Amino acid sequence: MTGDNWEADTRASYDTVAESYADQVRGAIAHYPYLRAALAAFAESTGGGPVADIGCGPGEVTAHLNELGVEAFGIDLSPAMIALARRTHPGLRFEVGSMVALELPAASVGGLLAWQSLIHVPDAEIPAVLAGFHRVLRPGGPLQLLFHVGDTSRLKTEGYGGHPMKVRVHRRRPERVSAWLRAAGFEVEAELLLDPAAEVPQAVLFARRG
Ligand SMILES: C[S@@+](CC[C@H](N)C(=O)[O-])C[C@H]1O[C@@H](n2cnc3c(N)ncnc32)[C@H](O)[C@@H]1O
Repeated sequence: MTGDNWEADTRASYDTVAESYADQVRGAIAHYPYLRAALAAFAESTGGGPVADIGCGPGEVTAHLNELGVEAFGIDLSPAMIALARRTHPGLRFEVGSMVALELPAASVGGLLAWQSLIHVPDAEIPAVLAGFHRVLRPGGPLQLLFHVGDTSRLKTEGYGGHPMKVRVHRRRPERVSAWLRAAGFEVEAELLLDPAAEVPQAVLFARRG
């Protein structure tokens, strides 16, 4: 996979696995108290108004945020994911779009969350994506990222029940992501490491637009 077609490959991959991915994550948040705590902290720190869940997949987290009283909407690259999210959560707003070119007005969202979606964006495009997040967030708005921790990138060729995929998964160290965030104008407020002894831990970064 080259840098030129990663978005098309990622879109096609998640279109293929949308139903099985949704089956796998449905209700899963109930089993992850630290992730629920991260969402509760995020919900508490938004300054009201719409909040964007970028790379929302089937919309589980978007729906959870709404249950916490946050007016969250979802954006995802995969039309199949968005169709599924709309069907599952008919009262909520979901739109097809890419974080590489967010079609949102400047300073239009009170918070922005990207869980396990920045993991598919190549290093070279991260500064532009974070600049876009900064542009659409209101000053002081929170940004929360969840990602796999490590130094390697791998090509995932199947997933979620053996379906074919062609998607790069980039593992990154929190200090590296924090440096990108600071360079883009964010203050990094907290870092949460999940399963620190696991082969691939996960990290949540809590940042805020300065
Ligand atoms: C591993 S899933 C995570 C879904 C959801 N955030 C969750 O935590 O369950 C990754 C999602 O990111 C989406 N995605 C990948 N690249 C994207 C991009 N450039 N813009 C928007 N969404 C993207 C994929 O389509 C997929 O639905």
